[in-house]
Amino acid sequence: MQNLQKLQITASAPDPAILDLPWSIPLAEWPDEVLAALPRGISRHIVRFVRLSGRVIAIKEIGESVAYREFELLRQLRKLEVPSVVPVGVITGRQDAHGERLEAVLVTEHLQFSLPYRALYSQSLQPTTATRLIDALAVLMVRLHLVGFYWGDVSLSNTLFRRDAETFAAYLVDAETGDLHRTLTPGQRAYDLDLARTNIIGELMDLAAGELLDEEVDEVAIGDRLVERYQELWNTLTDEESFASGDRWRVAARIERLNELGFDVGELDITTDIDGTSVRIQPKVVDAGHHSRRLLRLTGLDVQENQARRLLNDLDSYRAATDRQNDDEEFVAHDWLREVYEHTIQSVPRTMRRKLEAAQLFHEILDHRWFISEQAGHDVPMAEAVASYVEHVLQHRPDEKSLLGLAPGEKDPEDVE
Ligand SMILES: Nc1ncnc2c1ncn2[C@@H]1O[C@H](COP(=O)(O)OP(=O)(O)OP(=O)(O)O)[C@@H](O)[C@H]1O
Ligand SMILES: [Mg+2]
Repeated sequence: MQNLQKLQITASAPDPAILDLPWSIPLAEWPDEVLAALPRGISRHIVRFVRLSGRVIAIKEIGESVAYREFELLRQLRKLEVPSVVPVGVITGRQDAHGERLEAVLVTEHLQFSLPYRALYSQSLQPTTATRLIDALAVLMVRLHLVGFYWGDVSLSNTLFRRDAETFAAYLVDAETGDLHRTLTPGQRAYDLDLARTNIIGELMDLAAGELLDEEVDEVAIGDRLVERYQELWNTLTDEESFASGDRWRVAARIERLNELGFDVGELDITTDIDGTSVRIQPKVVDAGHHSRRLLRLTGLDVQENQARRLLNDLDSYRAATDRQNDDEEFVAHDWLREVYEHTIQSVPRTMRRKLEAAQLFHEILDHRWFISEQAGHDVPMAEAVASYVEHVLQHRPDEKSLLGLAPGEKDPEDVE
């Protein structure tokens, strides 16, 4: 008999169904029927995925105070709009059938379509994958540091990746060691970055030892690349720039350059010399997600930055093709959404549609259409492109929404207790 009355749940919007889970059993012994066999990274704590009211949650057994702390940090990160897993709650007061105390748990929403880096490697993707993951991680670190978050344990295992057009978007999964400050000092940032570099080299060497890494891949070079990419991006976003006061177009140029990189300038410091001959500008507040915010405003679609970029380009070409350059952008976007985007997604057979996120599916269909149009030497109609994509590409893709090749109930091979 479960000792429910002792359970204490701290959650923003508790789902009563959560009470029905077998809390009086240690997480490691939960029966297969309640578990969802999704890919998972390596961790010290026991983590399990569970289906609950039509969604999947991640449960991690962890000390009580650490659980509350991580819950709070994840909530703050969410408010700051940094990509991280979404906290659901903390459960304490667990006891087993003999009244023995069981560890507290932190519950988060399972990040749909997310891929731990090991899953990406065991699928033997191209060697360029390593660098694309690193580039995504560099963006994530810059975004965290911009809001004053010191991670303290950056590693590939503590990051989840989702496809974003031909690149990846990185999400923070493990906030346990993190700390939120008003701003970070250069020393704190450097320390976080250095730890990241060391951890990543170690993780890649582990993969190499397990023969999961292409022999071409140079672990140290990849670690160094993280540092380079981070610094490059950080400098572009935050550097001070000075120019003669006649060159004021450079203010707009700087903003445009940041937009190109996917960032918006929230606040820009502009100062002039006493004699007014030179101007200095320095971005003060930069927010990521320039394209995805624009797409969200126009269409209500909430997608990754590079997917948004691609969709906005398609919207532009729709606008040109339908000769509506003078129409209100919002109206055109509305029609594009119905006639092009939704229509395309719906023309993919339902059973296969769930293999990829809708925006990623659309992106791949556009790619495929371009590819077969080039081969054919003329524009292939969308309907034909979808049919060809489904037959030649999608059919052969693993299902990334759920199992990545694992059958339900099948033991996860990475599951070493
Ligand atoms: N919400 C989630 N969505 C998807 N995967 C998750 C989620 N939460 C945890 N995971 C998976 O579980 C793994 C372990 O989680 P986490 O890193 O929080 O555990 P940990 O024991 O604190 O790790 P560490 O050993 O770094 O301290 C992650 O690498 C990730 O693959
Ligand atoms: Mg971890």
